[in-house]
Amino acid sequence: MCRPEHFTVSYTINPWMEPAKPTDTARALSQWQVLHDTYLALGHEVELIDPVEGLPDMVYTANGGFVIDGVAYGAKFRYRERGPEAPAFMAWFASHGFDVVDPVCVNEGEGDFLLAGDTILAGTGFRSTDDSHRELRDVFGKEVVSLTLVDPRFYHLDTAISVLDPVVGPGGVDRANIAYLPHAFDERSQRVLAERFPDAIRASDEDGAVFGLNSSSDGLNVVISPRATGFEAQLRERGYNPVLVDLSELLLGGGGIKCCTLELRGRA
Ligand code: ARG
Repeated sequence: MCRPEHFTVSYTINPWMEPAKPTDTARALSQWQVLHDTYLALGHEVELIDPVEGLPDMVYTANGGFVIDGVAYGAKFRYRERGPEAPAFMAWFASHGFDVVDPVCVNEGEGDFLLAGDTILAGTGFRSTDDSHRELRDVFGKEVVSLTLVDPRFYHLDTAISVLDPVVGPGGVDRANIAYLPHAFDERSQRVLAERFPDAIRASDEDGAVFGLNSSSDGLNVVISPRATGFEAQLRERGYNPVLVDLSELLLGGGGIKCCTLELRGRA
């Protein structure tokens, strides 16, 4: 995670960002702190990267890379405003014992790549390119399923899919259920998702619109926005424990709970 010390909205690279609207950095910091402390209370370890002045989006660490088995595949940002974040994240990975892989293709890390069981779900349409999906396959040697996003409000895969069971079990992908927002995807991708995840939670457009899918799960506790009330009920019905954390200030930058969280999967 990265403390939003320099958080503000000074440019527009997604439809949520309106530089004319005032932001409150102190509020962003206190909301972020609640998320941080929630992870600790749930028994997770949290590592921090130092924020860099002039990089207000660095708080959205999910975009800093994609990490499996101690290998960190770096990000290559679509927009120049975020470009300098990439080397900062790479330096962090390298100095914390991860093997780093320099990316050739444009990709925004775990914002667009989600590990579901032993399969990588990979988003394209707005940020990460199709080519990055091929690169991802070569780097990790895993199956990569490409999904196309079509609604500009849901420009990263983690705004439209939440992996509910992130732990790889013996059954592989079949055991990893997801929640998703069908309307964020083109028809082909909707078919792929319906076939692969017949038991998935299909979130309502209302819950999607408040960034409800942008959540993080440890397989039991699912940290979600308090505004996603329908999703909260769906999770309870399935036996998950929704934990509500409000990041309304960070939503002004077009990010939420998952965006502020990059999973560090160490060596097996
Ligand atoms: N302002 C950031 C951008 O547009 C928000 C990133 C949100 N991150 C995410 N993983 N969805 O790039």
